[in-house]
Amino acid sequence: MGDIFLPLRTERLVLRDFVERDWSAVHEYGSDPDVVTFMPWGPNSEEDTRAFIESALASQREESRDKFELAVTLADSGRLIGGCGIRVSAPSDRGADMGYCLRRDHWGLGLGTGASRAIVRFGFEQLGLHRIIATCDVENRASARVLEKIGMRREAHFRADSAIRGEWRDSYLYAILEDEWRAQRGNR
Ligand SMILES: CC(C)(COP(=O)(O)OP(=O)(O)OC[C@H]1O[C@@H](n2cnc3c(N)ncnc32)[C@H](O)[C@@H]1OP(=O)(O)O)[C@@H](O)C(=O)NCCC(=O)NCCS
Repeated sequence: MGDIFLPLRTERLVLRDFVERDWSAVHEYGSDPDVVTFMPWGPNSEEDTRAFIESALASQREESRDKFELAVTLADSGRLIGGCGIRVSAPSDRGADMGYCLRRDHWGLGLGTGASRAIVRFGFEQLGLHRIIATCDVENRASARVLEKIGMRREAHFRADSAIRGEWRDSYLYAILEDEWRAQRGNR
């Protein structure tokens, strides 16, 4: 991994490191039951959200950083509308997993797709990854669609592998290899 350049910019978004004062904007979506339906965490208490921000700040201070939880903000206003992250989970295989979450009043505008595309690009270009995966609940249609739109392939259907608020749920695993990503970029 070489030098890391943040923030990440797209036409409509800026993905930047969290700062402490972001917690109230994060809490607005992290405590929304509709946002966390398919998440293993939440709805957040204030304490949960503070712990999330603290852990994001702690990972920024790590010398060899392997976790990037980024605030998704609107390029025009700077408003924080969600979070998007990538974590190098298999360093010897150059493998990572990624995830994202947006506040409800900003769904359906293509922003989840934009943020995910930016984090995948970051993973391949800046982190030098070989493979990036994401998992989502089989009923999380919007998330599965986002992963398909950014060129990820469904590789697995796990049975009852995740416990969400006491209920065993199935999930899909999506993946993309660096070669596939480069080939898709060439076609665009
Ligand atoms: C998943 C999430 C980030 C999607 O973000 P978004 O900005 O709304 O997504 P986009 O607008 O970029 O694209 C959504 C796609 O899903 C489709 N979609 C949305 N809801 C859908 C549904 N119920 N069934 C089928 N497709 C659906 C949209 O039509 C769109 O596809 P299209 O462009 O082909 O029409 C957002 O819904 C979210 O934050 N959800 C809560 C947190 C979460 O579940 N995170 C993922 C955990 S794995």
